[in-house]
Amino acid sequence: MPKHTQIPAATAAPPSASSAPPIRLPTALPITVNGKPYFHEGDPAMPLLWFLRDSLRLTGSKYGCDNGQCGACSVLLDGKAVRACSLPMSAIANKSVTTIEGIEAATLHPVQQAWIEADAIQCGYCQSGQIIAAIDLLKRKPRPGEEDIASIGNLCRCGSHPQIRRAIARAAELLQGDKK
Ligand code: FES
Ligand code: FES
Repeated sequence: MPKHTQIPAATAAPPSASSAPPIRLPTALPITVNGKPYFHEGDPAMPLLWFLRDSLRLTGSKYGCDNGQCGACSVLLDGKAVRACSLPMSAIANKSVTTIEGIEAATLHPVQQAWIEADAIQCGYCQSGQIIAAIDLLKRKPRPGEEDIASIGNLCRCGSHPQIRRAIARAAELLQGDKK
């Protein structure tokens, strides 16, 4: 039986008090991922990236350096970009995570559209993390300068940083309503 099971929130409350001794439940950390409620019932020290990839099978967030450096594992935590490889499950209880799978909608997100226009993708391994970081940046800085864009710090082993920088600038235009 998997250790990390989606449980409808309505069933999460413990049974009502009775004369029976309380049952000791394993630690169950509530977390919302892409709008859906889950409980993590395993090791609270488990990295968020493992929970996403191994338990939920959301494999868009990638495993790269495993030490918070490359950004391939980036996800949004309550709307802010974080490195999922370096965050234990205990640090995200009651918080909301959005992965690249949660960004997709009926139409492309403007940042994804800009990525296509700028031809920013080579092997693709870093790209979900790059897009997550760009969404975070553009929320904080709708009109980012070159320094803001350079500050993201996500790495690309294919060397597509120039195209990624162009994509972020184009995404800013699209989000401002410039469709040309
Ligand atoms: S795998 Fe998380 S920052 Fe590199
Ligand atoms: S596109 Fe290959 S690592 Fe970035």
